[in-house]
Amino acid sequence: MNHPTIAILDFGSQFLQLIARRVRENQVHSVIFAPKVAPETLREHNVIGIILSGGPASTYEGEAPKPDPAIFDLGVPILGICYGMQVACEGFGSCVEAAGAREYGRAALTLTGDDAFVRHVPKHTNVWMSHGDKVTGLGAEFKVLASTANCENAIVRHASRPVFGVQFHPEVTHTPEGGQLLRNFLYEICGASGTWNPGSIIDSHVEQIRAKVKPDDRVICGLSGGVDSSVTAALLHRAIPGQVTPIFVDNGLLRANERMRVRSVFEGHFKMDLHVVDAADRFLSRLAGVSDPQEKRIRIGHEFVDVFKEEAKSIRNAHFLAQGTLYPDVIESGHSAAGTAANIKLHHNVGGLPEELGFELIEPLRDLFKDEVRIIGELLGLPEEMVWRHPFPGPGLAVRIIGEVTHERCELLRKADTIIIEEITASGWYRKIAQAFGVLLPVSSVGVMGDGRSYADQHVVAVRFVESKDFMTADWVHIDPSVLSAISTRITNEVKGVNRVVYDITSKPPATIEWE
Ligand code: XMP
Repeated sequence: MNHPTIAILDFGSQFLQLIARRVRENQVHSVIFAPKVAPETLREHNVIGIILSGGPASTYEGEAPKPDPAIFDLGVPILGICYGMQVACEGFGSCVEAAGAREYGRAALTLTGDDAFVRHVPKHTNVWMSHGDKVTGLGAEFKVLASTANCENAIVRHASRPVFGVQFHPEVTHTPEGGQLLRNFLYEICGASGTWNPGSIIDSHVEQIRAKVKPDDRVICGLSGGVDSSVTAALLHRAIPGQVTPIFVDNGLLRANERMRVRSVFEGHFKMDLHVVDAADRFLSRLAGVSDPQEKRIRIGHEFVDVFKEEAKSIRNAHFLAQGTLYPDVIESGHSAAGTAANIKLHHNVGGLPEELGFELIEPLRDLFKDEVRIIGELLGLPEEMVWRHPFPGPGLAVRIIGEVTHERCELLRKADTIIIEEITASGWYRKIAQAFGVLLPVSSVGVMGDGRSYADQHVVAVRFVESKDFMTADWVHIDPSVLSAISTRITNEVKGVNRVVYDITSKPPATIEWE
């Protein structure tokens, strides 16, 4: 049985994922669908409410996306946001026109009507607008619940059907009462019970995996030590213990002690049949003499596929390959239920492998956001330290060593990196930072150590701490300077070959998070 679900129809809103997350944060399951989704599909998904997202189109343009009109007859409550409101109102005889003045940013909203949808919302509040069109001739069956100076129909509802529209964006934090309005829609209007949480999908995923994987089959999964692949392996282990073979490729470009950490959790705690491939020499010789960042990435990617393929051949009956693909990856790849391919960014943890080797894919996290995956990881018994790790890029230290990657440079950076992580953990900053790392620069600078001058064999390490929600934009962390002092003192004292430490104070954009 499907969980009671809120369907979000994707009209191209930049806030699409945010709407889905806001619903889930209220313990209600949400799924994103294409704008023209068939009413039967919504019924099959046990949909108890529909949100029509915003979008860049104008309803009066020829190509403007519109929902199947039959969704308005499902008897399921509907909330239209911005463009979604205009689509819903137009469906019931209202007019939509270009607004005299485009409206972006904060607007003062005044409630003018009473309804369960606006319960507990103060009479005067601010909302965040972003629109060029608006509903002008409101259909006779609608009533206005709130207005702003520039937008008379800021919140409307149909008089006899549970159809609502908001011209502003309740999903963004700049609309302080947006959360209350969404809660009212979910609980007062759609009758949600708030029983969904990421943990409730564990049981259904376990069942699905058991139905798919026969007792003789084996499932292999690439284990990087990061959150997504670790939770994937742990979830499979819960479903089909003894049939999962995680493969950990030590490419020599990892943080210190990664192999030991992965062994202790997956062999020690879960008693899984972990395969560890020692491939550091292979990777480093494939990288010899290469300084170009993209070339490094390409070579590492190809080597990974080669190593993984060889190892997979040695595992009998390995018909399935599990990957830790997440919902944002699925949406961005245009492969979600929404099926819109506007923003194609194909993610493949192990590019090309499934097709080449004839594996069937298992992606148990493809409905989940990162924070939900972390909750599941904790419920499955993964150590907190593993569940809350910062992301680490696939090419590893290779894109944090500027210039050629050698074993010695990896060792140097690993030591500095260990100190950085130890210090931010000890000072309580780790969980407040999205990503923290050191970068080894191909620069020598003059130093004075003891009574002597140091120069030729000395390096500079740049420390980078960023805060970010989605890693698309980021800011540098205004960290307590005493933490930076401790890091600088320890690195220059303990890491032979580094005589200078600098802190990166650049946001993204214009810089990227990684230096390469
Ligand atoms: P940038 O440097 O593009 O990084 O601002 C954004 C996020 O992506 C990670 N990153 C990568 N991850 N392979 C990966 O698996 C890569 O080639 C790669 N490059 C960047 C980066 O660590 C950050 O979290």
